[in-house]
Amino acid sequence: MTLETLVEGKKTIALPCAQWGDTGKGKFVDFFAEEWADIVIRGTGGANAGHTIRFGDKEIVLHLIPSGILHDRTVTNIIGNGVVLDPWETLHEIQRLHDAGYSTDNLMISHNAKLVLPQHILLDRLEEAVAGKEKLGTTGRGIGKAYEDVPARIALTVNDLLNPDILHKKLKRNLERRARVLQTYDPALVKAILSDPEVSSFRNGSFFNAEAGLSLDALMAFYTEYGVQLKEHVRDTQKYVREHVGRKKILLEGAQGTLLSVDYGTIPFVTSSDCSIEGLAKGAGVNRSEVDLVLSIVKAPYMTRVGEGPFPTELGGTESAKHCNASRREQEQREYHGVSVNDADPLRQGIAIRREGNEFGATTSRPRRVGWLDLPLLRYAAQINGPDIIVTKPDVLRGCNTINICDAYRYDGPNMYVGETELKKGQVLFTAIPAAEVLQHCTPLYDQLPGWHEDLREARAYHELPRNFRAIMNYIEGRAGVHIRIISFGPERTQTIIR
Ligand code: IMP
Repeated sequence: MTLETLVEGKKTIALPCAQWGDTGKGKFVDFFAEEWADIVIRGTGGANAGHTIRFGDKEIVLHLIPSGILHDRTVTNIIGNGVVLDPWETLHEIQRLHDAGYSTDNLMISHNAKLVLPQHILLDRLEEAVAGKEKLGTTGRGIGKAYEDVPARIALTVNDLLNPDILHKKLKRNLERRARVLQTYDPALVKAILSDPEVSSFRNGSFFNAEAGLSLDALMAFYTEYGVQLKEHVRDTQKYVREHVGRKKILLEGAQGTLLSVDYGTIPFVTSSDCSIEGLAKGAGVNRSEVDLVLSIVKAPYMTRVGEGPFPTELGGTESAKHCNASRREQEQREYHGVSVNDADPLRQGIAIRREGNEFGATTSRPRRVGWLDLPLLRYAAQINGPDIIVTKPDVLRGCNTINICDAYRYDGPNMYVGETELKKGQVLFTAIPAAEVLQHCTPLYDQLPGWHEDLREARAYHELPRNFRAIMNYIEGRAGVHIRIISFGPERTQTIIR
C-alpha cells in the first residue's frame, strides 16, 4: 500500500504515542507534514517534549514548535489551546529556527494556551528535590505545576501576555496563592533553584525576591516584553481550526504517550496532560469524532520509559531503573564496555539495546529504561486510541537471537479490589490495569520468538522483510488485536513500509 491509499479521503489524522513517549513520532510528523498536511497542531504537553531535527551536520531540538515549520510547503503550525507554553523557551526556539534559516511566519500560538511561569518550574523542582522515594522523575520544566493551576482557576493564558493590566492582576493572584506553598520550603533551596543558570527561563536569577520568593515586578517586566515579541503569532486558533476542520488536511501531533496520560496512564507516574487521542484532539481544538484516522506509534519489539514508575518488562528490573535515573549518557558509556544485544545479563542486554537505539532523552539526556514489548499495555492503549498502529525502531533488535514478547502478566501482589472485581494473587491478566499499585506487582509472562539477522533496510515491501521478522509482526497483530499500518526501520523516508 502507498501513503496515498492509506490517507485517501482522510481530512484529520492523529499521531499519538501508545506507550510512554519517545517512540519516534517526529519522523512521522515530518513525513505527513511534507507529503500531506496543510495544518499541524500540537495539542498537549509543553517543553517536556523534545524532537531533535538534523540538517546537514547541525541539529535543532524543538520542544514546543511543531516540526511542520521546517518544510518548504506552506504548512500552518499551531501550538494548540491544550499546551502549556513557556514564552521564553518559545522565543528561543523561534530564534534558533531563524538562525538556521527557517521562517516562522506560519506559526500560530493559541491565545488560550496556558503559561508556564518561573513559579511552576521552581515548584516542580522543589517538589522533586524533597520527594525522596516519592520522586516522579519529571523533566523539571514546570509542566505539572502549570496544569495544576487550571482546575485551581489561577492559570494565566498566552492572551494575558498581551494585556498588561490583566497580566498584573492574575500574576499577583497566582503568586499570592503559590507563596503559601513556597513558604514551606527552605529559602536557601528556593534561591539556589531560581538562580540555576541551566534553566534559561529563570533569566539568571532575575525573578528571585528574598521576601516573597518571586518578584512580581521582575515577572511583569519580562513577561510583558515576551508578549510584545510573541504577539504576531498569537491567534484564536480554536476559531481557525473550526473554520478548517473537515476541509483542510489537519495533522494532530502527539506529545509524550498514552501511558503517561494523567487520565489513562500509569498513575501517579504520569505527566499532567491527557496525551491519549482524546486529550490530543481536545487540546488541538478538534472533536474526537472528527479524527478520521488515529495512527498510534508503538516502539517494538522493545520499548522504553523515562523517569520513575513501574515497567514490568524492564530489562534488569529495578536495578536498571535505578541506574537510568541516576546516570547520564556519558557516564554509562564510560562505565559499560562490550555489552551485546545477546548478553545473558538483562541489565547489560538493556544497555546494549539502549546504545543501539540511541535511547537517551532529548530534553534531559537521561538514559531511557529499556524493556521488552508489553502486549497487556498495548491492548489497553488500543482500547483508548483504536487499533491502528505504526511500529518504529524494530531494526535496533537486528541480530538479537531471541525476542521476548510479554503476552500476559501474573499478578503477584496482595488481593485488592479493582472496581467490581477482586484481583487475586496469581491471577493472569491479558489487559493491563495501569494503576501503579497493580502494575508494580505484575510479572510478565513471555513468549519467545526467534530473531532475525538480515538488514531490514533492504526491504521495500512487507513481503520482502525477513521471515522471522514478519512472524513477530504477525504475532503482535494476532495477539494484541492491532493493525500494523506502517513499519519504520530507520530515520530515512525510504526506511518505511506502508501496509
Ligand atoms: P513532566 O511531564 O515533566 O511532569 O514529567 C512527568 C513524567 O513524564 C516523567 O516520568 C517524565 O520522564 C515523563 N515525560 C514527560 N515528557 C516526556 C517525553 O516527552 N518523553 C518521555 N517521557 C516524558
